[in-house]
Amino acid sequence: MMQPSFHRRVIDQFSALIREVNDKFAARWATMAARAEAINLSDDTSELTLEIVLRSIFGSDLARLEIEFGANPFEVVAKEQNRDLKFAFRFRSLTKLVAQLIDRRRRTPEEHFDFLSMLMATRDRDTDAAMSDKELIDEVLTLIVAGHETTAAALTWTWYLISQHPDTAERLQAEADRTSSDQTLGLDAAESLEFTHQVLQEALRLYPPGWLITRRTLEADELGGFPLGPRTDVFISPYMLHRHPLFWSEPEEFRPERFAGADAEERHRFAYIPFAVGPRHCIGENIAMFEMLVHVHAMSRRFRLTRAGNEPIELEAQINLRPRSNLMMMVQAR
Ligand code: HEM
Repeated sequence: MMQPSFHRRVIDQFSALIREVNDKFAARWATMAARAEAINLSDDTSELTLEIVLRSIFGSDLARLEIEFGANPFEVVAKEQNRDLKFAFRFRSLTKLVAQLIDRRRRTPEEHFDFLSMLMATRDRDTDAAMSDKELIDEVLTLIVAGHETTAAALTWTWYLISQHPDTAERLQAEADRTSSDQTLGLDAAESLEFTHQVLQEALRLYPPGWLITRRTLEADELGGFPLGPRTDVFISPYMLHRHPLFWSEPEEFRPERFAGADAEERHRFAYIPFAVGPRHCIGENIAMFEMLVHVHAMSRRFRLTRAGNEPIELEAQINLRPRSNLMMMVQAR
């Protein structure tokens, strides 16, 4: 039921929204650049991706809620870093808010273009039933968490890698300079940014936010010659697969070009799975790549980023893989 909402044609229509959010952050970074102050890149990518996912779900309702509450009621998702019981409680309290939004839309039908209206309109192919309120709320809350933290972590790692490789930064800037500054990139145009795409793919290879995927066998099975009993938990680590010397040459090296043409074609088709594979793979893959391409492109056109400080980066492998400490960056206007 969710799938049609994630069709390329739909996602393409989020291009103006993605651009607006990036323009807002570019203005913020320009101010910090002028003051020669470091930006907290971890916080900024978290806020940026949260704003994109919330606006794509709630559309114009989000601005209304911000006025009503005096602040964005969903910002707890970005501000509260721990994923503990306290967070679970506060997050669950958003359930009521989403229920009210759904109810209000039912009572005052207006045209909306956002995920919530699409999910409310979708019907089961076999029974023609709509989603129940509980299903709608569940899906909305899942989209917020699944769509925000993963993309934020991926962008943080991407900027970290770019800052370690000045030649990559220069190539990204050159690619960005080839598009006109007032062009709002649609999905096709964003995907045609070849080198930017390769850099993001390589960042997702080295630091896949979804570093561990679990599945449970339904019945007895065999995997790679090992017998598995029924209801056995199987852990699959994209992080380890992505660095496995059997599938990758110089696996620890950052080499975006490995995703160019011929190289990419030779690889085992399950050696690279940042969005998982199979029936439960990431439904948001296209929109995630779209917003990341637009972001790296928009910011490379305007800024150079260098790390503030050079302490080694430590990994924090919780639900998502992210740097343990905030990544601070100096921005310089180009
Ligand atoms: C770089 C960004 C992203 C990465 C690396 C990523 C990765 C993943 C992975 C690995 C899974 C499978 C998890 C599992 O099976 O255990 C998944 C599932 C999912 N993702 Fe993403 N994701 C990203 C962005 C997004 C975005 C932007 C959205 C929505 C707007 C999204 C929505 C979902 C949903 C709803 C699922 C569950 C699908 C299902 O169970 O059928 N993701 N994602």
